[in-house]
Amino acid sequence: MRIGIGNDHAAVEMKNEVVQYLKDKGIEVINYGTDTSESCNYPEYGEKVGRAVVSGDVDLGILICGTGVGISLAANKVKGVRAVVCSEPYSARLSRQHNNTNVLAFGARVVGIEMAKMIIDEWLAAEFMGGRHQTRVDMIMAIEDR
Ligand code: RB5
Repeated sequence: MRIGIGNDHAAVEMKNEVVQYLKDKGIEVINYGTDTSESCNYPEYGEKVGRAVVSGDVDLGILICGTGVGISLAANKVKGVRAVVCSEPYSARLSRQHNNTNVLAFGARVVGIEMAKMIIDEWLAAEFMGGRHQTRVDMIMAIEDR
């Protein structure tokens, strides 16, 4: 499993903690985010991770900004990305099971590191259920071609 991670200046510390958490689980992590607190623009990192996921350079993406909102919006503009912003684990799990999300986002100013770990754990452990959910995901993706 290889995960691409991206973040802006609001989330450097949390990104570092998440990277260590993932590495401790034996997951390979590619860092596409900023490593300084200098103000930067989150769309750059959302797009980078989104493109890495769609190209297959990484299996999944994790994005962190202040709220998780802006960076996930940017990632969702990349064709093939299904990014979800979560502040609790239930939505994270269901977003995989029903929506087959391939990018997870959360806010460093919204959730603490322990909640972030729970969100990540639920998201990674869940599997897409297919069936009627595949039909709906296909409908979502078809919007990109219209
Ligand atoms: C940066 O101040 C902040 O706007 C950004 O991290 C994020 O919260 C945007 O959605």
